[in-house]
Amino acid sequence: MIMIIIFPLLFSLFLLPLLFLLIARRKAPERLPPGSLGIPFIGQSFSLLWAMRANTAEKWMADRARKYGPVSKLSLFGKPTVFIYGQAANRFVFSTDSSKMSNQQTDSVRMILGDRCLLELVGEDHQRIRSALASFLKPDSLKNYVGKMEEEVRMHLQMHWHGQTNVTVMPLMKKLTFNIICSLLFGVERGARRDMFVLYFQEMIDGMWSIPVDLPFTRFNRSLKASVKVQKMLKDLIYEKRAQLASGAPSHQDLITCLLSIRGEGDQQLVSDDEIIHNVMLIMVAGHDTSSVLITFMVRVLANDPDIYAAVLREQEEIKKSVSTGDFLTWEDLGKMKYTWRVAMETLRAFPPLFGGFRKTLEDIEYQGYLIPKGWQIFWVTGMTHMDDSIFPEASKFDPARFENPASVPPYCYIPFGGGARICPGYEFAKIETLVTIHYLVTRFTWKLCCNDNCFRRDPMPVPTRGLPIQIFPKKLL
Ligand code: HEM
Ligand SMILES: *[C@@H]1O[C@H](CO)[C@@H](O)[C@H](O)[C@H]1NC(C)=O
Ligand SMILES: *[C@@H]1O[C@H](CO)[C@@H](O)[C@H](O)[C@H]1NC(C)=O
Repeated sequence: MIMIIIFPLLFSLFLLPLLFLLIARRKAPERLPPGSLGIPFIGQSFSLLWAMRANTAEKWMADRARKYGPVSKLSLFGKPTVFIYGQAANRFVFSTDSSKMSNQQTDSVRMILGDRCLLELVGEDHQRIRSALASFLKPDSLKNYVGKMEEEVRMHLQMHWHGQTNVTVMPLMKKLTFNIICSLLFGVERGARRDMFVLYFQEMIDGMWSIPVDLPFTRFNRSLKASVKVQKMLKDLIYEKRAQLASGAPSHQDLITCLLSIRGEGDQQLVSDDEIIHNVMLIMVAGHDTSSVLITFMVRVLANDPDIYAAVLREQEEIKKSVSTGDFLTWEDLGKMKYTWRVAMETLRAFPPLFGGFRKTLEDIEYQGYLIPKGWQIFWVTGMTHMDDSIFPEASKFDPARFENPASVPPYCYIPFGGGARICPGYEFAKIETLVTIHYLVTRFTWKLCCNDNCFRRDPMPVPTRGLPIQIFPKKLL
């Protein structure tokens, strides 16, 4: 008798909620990924930044993966974050619809580069600016600029390499790639104005990955102030180029002129002045900090591996023979630098300039049975996939032959340039400047490393020890 009362009571008090819980659990993945969010606000930011500076970021990630598996939560730069890696993760990040997942920059990057740059835009706006940039950065347009790029490389070597016995590669390559951008993209010639540009720009970039505290004397404050000056200079530049356009054909078609002349319905300028300024600043950063890393690490690879060096030299000497002295390289010549480009690709696999990036979820998203709540960050990384032995056999070995057959690399596994709708639009540009620079370096110099430790730290771009000092020996020019 008593059972008849107790059983329903038990059922409603205890079993019913349990049943409800079980059903609810099956319906929506309420399960957050494993891992701890750490100390509020700070989270694991310092531990990651410290690992990057100490060149142990790869170990930091591997330890994390061992402990929590391929999906884990943590908190970075003040936001709850999910860390994912591997082929499936890359596909997820690069192919999820932009209505569900948007790009995410740190506050300091947004405040310095401006809110109309590509990194901040989504959907149609993103598409419109990308195709405007692509009209300039596509191979068909770039092939007219090989000579201009080469002129910058020759001038750079004349000024900073010939007549020297020792040089430091990293800062010099930054200088070179920045000058190439100034010349080709902004049409700013050598001289006082370009020097000023470089100065302000360096100040601006110094504070870009700092903590956004706008007090006098902070790095961030200096950086913001420099950003205002750079924007002012760009405004003047736009003004001049618009006047040039109005008075007939400009002498040199640079990126700014090109963006100004894209017209929509009713002859409206399709890219606004603010959009031009913010995207030009983005390209200044995205375009010179990355390719300078690639060229620097290639110089190190060539010094460390005599076989690879000999093969690159053979290819470049062959091309040089067909170019008569005083003449410039052609687009066809670049097409013949197949082995050299494979060395570059392998360099990007082993030392990807970009460590990874962030996305933000715009709604609750399920990934591998876990819930990633709306508004969280997703942290994707290049290195973990590039160093996976099951994708790249003997991944720690440097071997350009991996790229002889591009089809042998599975999709979403080689990601130094990202992927999907936001894949790097500067790929061809970076390829041309790298090939032209390496052509001149190997045909004009031999070099020895002054520092053989083969280490680097991330700041957040990879920097070899002491910026890679080398001893150089000019070749006798025939
Ligand atoms: C070796 C050189 C380079 C590497 C490794 C590289 C890498 C990358 C990566 C990984 C992304 C995607 C980031 C993401 O999805 O979150 C990206 C985006 C971008 N890159 Fe590059 N990049 C290089 C050179 C360049 C150059 C030379 C330019 C310009 C001339 C450039 C302009 C851009 C721009 C504008 C974006 C943003 C695209 C968007 O959000 O739609 N990059 N780059
Ligand atoms: C930077 O600090 C100065 C004081 O030195 C202050 O007046 C200014 O508002 C701060 N921020 C910017 C962006 O200039
Ligand atoms: C150049 O580098 C070599 C090798 O590291 C070193 O012995 C030499 O002292 C350096 N020369 C100068 C002028 O710095």
